[in-house]
Amino acid sequence: MKDWTLGNFPLALRVVFTSFLLTIGVGLMMAGAQIMMTHGMADGKVGLSLDDIVYSYYGNKTGSKIEGKLNGSMQAMAPDEVRLDIIKWARAGAPEADWEPKYKAVFAQYCAICHSAEQTALPNFTQYDNVKHVTETDEGASFSSLTRVSHIHLFGISFIFMFVGMIFAFARFNQTWKIVLIITPFAFLIIDVLSWWLTKLMPEFAWFTIIGGFGYSVASGIMLFTSLAQMWLPRFRDTTA
Ligand code: HEC
Repeated sequence: MKDWTLGNFPLALRVVFTSFLLTIGVGLMMAGAQIMMTHGMADGKVGLSLDDIVYSYYGNKTGSKIEGKLNGSMQAMAPDEVRLDIIKWARAGAPEADWEPKYKAVFAQYCAICHSAEQTALPNFTQYDNVKHVTETDEGASFSSLTRVSHIHLFGISFIFMFVGMIFAFARFNQTWKIVLIITPFAFLIIDVLSWWLTKLMPEFAWFTIIGGFGYSVASGIMLFTSLAQMWLPRFRDTTA
């Protein structure tokens, strides 16, 4: 009787497992790309950094988005006196009374070339409401969006880890490390989700988001590659029985 290791599984099972693992692999890369494109740009710079996570969950309570941008990537878009004037208006709560007589024209002159209806990806600054929105203090993620994302994340991703772990359970691997690797993604998933909530309250916890995400990516990566290798490399096949 052959032992129950991946190399000895019937072809059809290995094909199912392989298809699943490859799809998950592509999915993980897409998830990574999506994180880079949403959270990764939160501080206005390309690439995921601690600041991105702090901005995404805790927010940037010292100022509004427009102030941050006008001192950052939008600095070159208007002369200093115009920038400072917009910042002053934003700090005063961007009163609508000043929009028609003054700021509508300012935004039209300096910002609307890019921030107008035709450039749909950017907020349209020909409309007061959109300008108002970026002048509000950035409170980070809302509690309602956190509860929604948390439960989707926990339910959805734990299924992925269960199947990856179940397949890997049949790999030839040091028993202790096998158990550690199977538990790790679940543990780090909980750390990751908890860290969003903690970061919302205290920005220092952003580290846990990075550690959590890194931890389960590495653990599932090892399980994924080990399982794929053992299903298809001839030396993991038991030819004696
Ligand atoms: C040459 C084109 C261009 C001009 C002119 C321009 N912007 Fe931008 N703006 C961008 C681009 C591209 C982005 C997205 C990249 C980024 O956030 O740096 C952006 C992003 C922003 C954001 C962040 C929007 C969001 O929701 O993330 C704000 C706020 C902003 N601009 C304000 C302004 C203001 C105020 C002016 C006028 C003084 C202005 N911009 C002029 C191209 C422009």
